[in-house]
Amino acid sequence: MNTIILKNNNLEVVIGDIGATIIRLITKDRDFKDVDVVLGYENLDEYITQDGYLGATVGRVCNRIALGKFSLNNKDYQLAINNGPNALHGGIEGFSYKRFDIIEKSNEHVLLRYISKDMEEGYPGELVLDVSYKLIDNELKTSYFATCSKDTLINITNHSYFNLSNENTILDHSLMIKSDYMVSCDTDGLATGELISVTNKPYDYRTLNKISKALLSDDEHIKIGNGLDHPFIFNDKTNQIVLYSDKSGIEMTVNTTLPQAQIYSANYLDGRLGKYGNKYYKNAGICIETQYMPDAIHLESKPSTILKKGEEYNESTSYIFKVK
Ligand code: BGC
Repeated sequence: MNTIILKNNNLEVVIGDIGATIIRLITKDRDFKDVDVVLGYENLDEYITQDGYLGATVGRVCNRIALGKFSLNNKDYQLAINNGPNALHGGIEGFSYKRFDIIEKSNEHVLLRYISKDMEEGYPGELVLDVSYKLIDNELKTSYFATCSKDTLINITNHSYFNLSNENTILDHSLMIKSDYMVSCDTDGLATGELISVTNKPYDYRTLNKISKALLSDDEHIKIGNGLDHPFIFNDKTNQIVLYSDKSGIEMTVNTTLPQAQIYSANYLDGRLGKYGNKYYKNAGICIETQYMPDAIHLESKPSTILKKGEEYNESTSYIFKVK
């Protein structure tokens, strides 16, 4: 893994070329002490050998596709089944495990490119994906551009596990999501498309609320997901999510062009060794995976995840830091 460091007066980010991965993201807490707010590995080889997608760019299609099957332009496609009965996160060797080329670099910006071959992991068309990381004051802006030689499916996300407080849990973090509806998932984590109103539910995060409120509840959806592992549909187009730690005073706002995010409370971390000698167990971090509807190819009448030949996929997600 080759690494690139971007730095300005407020933020420092270390990006790895494999998976265009966020390895470190350092900001200051309310006492001006450095806090690395993402989980990751000290030993960079582990980004290749481990699962969990720590910090990685996920594609060609993130999240699950039912039974790994889809049809596009009257042709049937079969993807590898790598998660229960379904296809997950771009396949056995999705983008998270691919080496990106560094195309441009300055102190505060890097552009990485990966060219995915026609039928790689079963997806049609040669897809060119550019991932840009840019520091702008107290913001890390990630942008994704893609084009394809044939009609294909695309749904790119970043799989960083955030923890704003240098502690081993996010249970005492607070969360705000501008979302009236969560999407139900089955026992394999596959989105069913059923919308659940958050009103009167422990995952009503329309105002800032403790994450533990949902995670420690006996709500049926939280039980099925072994925690939060669900898409939340945004009802606003800007600054849709806020994550806050009262311990450090760090507040992170997520501002995205995408219509929803999978909120995943690291339910399957297993005690693996991460950076600074920390061991990562369940709830050690929280992923805010901005994306289109998971399994849109089956759930939507006009699937938002189809990228047509000649069109450009162009989405961005910013992470903005403040202290309180
Ligand atoms: C999924 C989880 C999965 C995890 C893998 C998340 O995006 O929603 O169900 O276990 O990725 O690390």
